[in-house]
Amino acid sequence: MKILITGANGLLGQNAVRQLAAAGHQIIATGRGACRLPDAGMSFDYTEMDLTDRQRVVSAVTAIRPEVIIHAAAMSQPDACELNPEACYDCNTNATRYVTAAAASVKAKLVYISTDFVFSGDHGPYRETDIPSPVNYYGQTKWEAEQVVQQSEAGWAIVRTVLVYGNILAGTRSNVVTWVKENLEKGNPIQVVSDQVRTPTYIEDLVRGIQLVIEKKAGGIYHISGREILTPYDMAVQVADYFGLDKQLMKKVNAAIFSQPARRPLKTGFIIDKAEKELGYSPVGFREGIQKMFPLP
Ligand SMILES: NC(=O)c1ccc[n+]([C@@H]2O[C@H](COP(=O)([O-])OP(=O)(O)OC[C@H]3O[C@@H](n4cnc5c(N)ncnc54)[C@H](OP(=O)(O)O)[C@@H]3O)[C@@H](O)[C@H]2O)c1
Repeated sequence: MKILITGANGLLGQNAVRQLAAAGHQIIATGRGACRLPDAGMSFDYTEMDLTDRQRVVSAVTAIRPEVIIHAAAMSQPDACELNPEACYDCNTNATRYVTAAAASVKAKLVYISTDFVFSGDHGPYRETDIPSPVNYYGQTKWEAEQVVQQSEAGWAIVRTVLVYGNILAGTRSNVVTWVKENLEKGNPIQVVSDQVRTPTYIEDLVRGIQLVIEKKAGGIYHISGREILTPYDMAVQVADYFGLDKQLMKKVNAAIFSQPARRPLKTGFIIDKAEKELGYSPVGFREGIQKMFPLP
């Protein structure tokens, strides 16, 4: 299939380009500014497309005429969103309006990537049928974008995911595994939250879930994450155990001790039964995900 990917320079975008091109799809990667994907024998085209530029979105999508658009681009750091609300709304909600309209105009199916942060965190893990109620501005703009997508006349799917970890192909982006590993290796003490829960998602599983949605022509909302319900502290213990690092450096703390600009939902994570039953989605466990990132010799 001819698939256009937004945010192709990001963590998800880079991995989606690699995995979907390897699966034989024709990939048009798009991003803000120059291509930062490595060549690495991957077969794809790249087009610059700043999504806040409506005209550019319309002209690029009209010229490319993809069958599917994976809309992965976002202002994805909650604290930055809280501190820069206009830029956040423009990037996450307005840009999604432009992408949704452009997709409809060429009859492309839109797969919108969303987040567990649309939920309040009061009673996770969540199913697709639970009602969003975001507690920070990032989550609010993603929830509003979901509603834009759901009003689209074209085919759509929303893939929500949770705390993604994995290797990025080019550039740097820390995640729970690399953050714990790097700090413990340097002997740095770390404070790790033990009163939040998540279902951490291995990046290759997320792309596989998106691929299943596309290839099975599934519509509606899907929760695509890992299956294990873990606190960040549980995750850190598994990382330390895997690499044989010193757990004495880790201190259990409550999320409330951090004064971050954006409030975090306490208990999210997803129930993934729908994706397992309808798509045949089957994610790895957290330890297996670490092993895939850093295979033991
Ligand atoms: N990572 C997670 O744990 C997680 C969890 C739940 C949901 N999600 C969702 O998953 C999706 C992918 O996240 P990610 O982890 O891959 O984030 P990421 O690494 O921050 O990538 C986002 C990409 O969007 C691009 N972008 C931002 N503004 C843009 C604009 N105006 N025009 C075009 N591109 C723009 C960024 O470009 P630059 O590289 O130039 O900045 C970046 O490459 C997002 O929708 C996010 O909300 C992620």
